[in-house]
Amino acid sequence: MGIGTDVIHGGQHPEERTGAVSVPIFQTSTYKQDAIGKHRGYEYARTQNPTREAWERCVCKLEGGTEAVAFSSGLGTTSAILKNLRAGDHVVAGDNMYGGTYRLFETIYRPLGLDFSYVDSTDPAKLRDAMTDRTKMVFIETPTNPMMNVTDIAAAAEIARAKGAFLVVDNTFLTPYFQKPLSLGAHAVMHSATKYLNGHADVVGGIVVTNDQSFAERIRYVQNAEGAVPGPMDCFLALRGVKTLAVRMPRHESNAKKIVELLVSHPKVEKVYYPGLEDHPGYAVARKQCTGFGGMVSFTLSDFGAVQAFATRTKIFTLAESLGGIESLLCHPASMTHASVPKEKRDAMGLTDSLLRLSVGIEDPEDLVEDIRQALSR
Ligand SMILES: Cc1ncc(COP(=O)(O)O)c(C=O)c1O
Repeated sequence: MGIGTDVIHGGQHPEERTGAVSVPIFQTSTYKQDAIGKHRGYEYARTQNPTREAWERCVCKLEGGTEAVAFSSGLGTTSAILKNLRAGDHVVAGDNMYGGTYRLFETIYRPLGLDFSYVDSTDPAKLRDAMTDRTKMVFIETPTNPMMNVTDIAAAAEIARAKGAFLVVDNTFLTPYFQKPLSLGAHAVMHSATKYLNGHADVVGGIVVTNDQSFAERIRYVQNAEGAVPGPMDCFLALRGVKTLAVRMPRHESNAKKIVELLVSHPKVEKVYYPGLEDHPGYAVARKQCTGFGGMVSFTLSDFGAVQAFATRTKIFTLAESLGGIESLLCHPASMTHASVPKEKRDAMGLTDSLLRLSVGIEDPEDLVEDIRQALSR
């Protein structure tokens, strides 16, 4: 089946008793048991919930895994993934990731005894050099938030596997519509489902998909033992949102390309970061491993003053955290999503105060282009 069919039908079937075509919201915390020790597969809703199971099965199908486990946020998902490690273990991570991921690593897990090295994972040699005998996990985003750096997933998988380490890819930016990390050798792929998977800016959620049996068992255990589960209503909304993924993603991308066209030719724009540009350093790798470049675009203006003025002038692009919804958003990463990353580190990777990030929505492209044009020209 194609992904346009799988997003709608994957892991779902009409409900047995009534034939309801949409998976119902099983808004219950517990289930009647028929006798002591005799239940119908459902005991308590932290452990099992049919709406959550349908959401998990659907994303599992999309990413081509054997097991998907849902959590109440993207960071909750990353945290559960790290629970597979022990004090003393070493993680090699990309040097540009969502700021909250960096904060989680540094302020929660480092004090608990995990060790992290951050490398430019776009260079396989640097990734290889960072591996030690204690490295148990490689964690990358590609393309990265917000610098749009592209890592060769197959190369990263080979490097991780050679050391017996586990490769996790954050696929939030491209989704399985454009990129399938498991098929390129990753052990697990995770999402902030808050973003494109749900796609409507009305749910916070996360999910991880794997085809590694022992990891699947462990992460399912963590889901129940720690309990950071998404509620049934959120699972229903995410399941409804993902049904249009195959319609939304090409539109996000074609709109983004039109914005990029304007930005690269505009005299006030200094640099544009979009992996679909032929002079982007990750272009060749992106073409090899993705079927598209997505709807996220970053760019710089001359200075913070210009950025501040731009952010007050857009009429459709809304200044807000988050990304991946149908509506276009504008973000200033240095003060918003990546404020928890130290300034020297931000500046070193190009994440300066003059950088803006656009999450290009699916509105009419002419209106979006005009919005950016007028905000730049005033
Ligand atoms: C790439 C990426 N990964 C993970 C997260 C964390 O997800 P959540 O906000 O759902 O916890 C985000 C949030 O912006 C993100 O952009």
